[in-house]
Amino acid sequence: MRTLFSWLGHKRSQKPTYTEPMPHPESFVTFEQLGKHWHPFLPTFSYPGAYINEHHRFFAECPQKGALIDIGIKGFLLSADALKLYELAYFSRGDVLELGCYHGLSTHILAMAICDSGTQKKLVTNDLFPEAIDITGALLQKHHYDSFSSFRCGYAADVCRQLVGEKRHFECVFIDHSHTYEAVTAVCKVLGDIVTPGGMCLFHDYNNEWNADPNNHDYGVWQAVQENLPRELFNFYGSYGCTGLFRRKIVPTQ
Ligand SMILES: C[S@@+](CC[C@H](N)C(=O)[O-])C[C@H]1O[C@@H](n2cnc3c(N)ncnc32)[C@H](O)[C@@H]1O
Repeated sequence: MRTLFSWLGHKRSQKPTYTEPMPHPESFVTFEQLGKHWHPFLPTFSYPGAYINEHHRFFAECPQKGALIDIGIKGFLLSADALKLYELAYFSRGDVLELGCYHGLSTHILAMAICDSGTQKKLVTNDLFPEAIDITGALLQKHHYDSFSSFRCGYAADVCRQLVGEKRHFECVFIDHSHTYEAVTAVCKVLGDIVTPGGMCLFHDYNNEWNADPNNHDYGVWQAVQENLPRELFNFYGSYGCTGLFRRKIVPTQ
């Protein structure tokens, strides 16, 4: 017979599952608005309460240095960026790809969410530099996230093409390697071949004022996405913190 305590235990252990994603078109950022306002985290998926679980809530309440979260891993994430990363990886029904791991801050969040979701999906992460991969690898190992994670060293666009050749597909891609127009464009051109229909692409530094500075040639994320992410395949789904979220259409349009 089910007692009140067993029922409560059952409710507590129930994990939220995938729901139809909700877009936030009102958070679209124009060129003139770049970096002037960061939109707060809003959920893309439905779950009871403001957060998926205590790990998710942590990224809303964790220590910060200036505007960036400070959890003892070098990196450059706003709280809203971290909350969106965790949410997307948690609810992803397929494998997760990260371009640009640096010291593993975002990789740690993605891996934690995958682990917490209790599903079998895999994480593939990339960096141009072997040192970044070594540092991130050690971090994942320390937290026992290495069993479902693997690394690809090289230029992000080359790695994407390699993955296409291997017929790998991803339902969630975090793009945070080089922020130049050229490097982001090269990735935008191949995303249609690796993101599954309904899958999500999160671009970091999409809403960054540096993108609007004509003298800053290191930043052109917003322009690269606007001009080169195929409109017939992807829809804008929202901006949270400095990120831009795009969803692959289920059926391409003309
Ligand atoms: C902004 S950092 C990534 C930060 C990390 N995602 C985080 O949130 O903690 C960018 C990383 O991308 C790497 N990178 C730069 N250009 C690249 C390229 N073309 N392909 C792959 N990685 C690249 C750099 O070595 C650096 O580690």
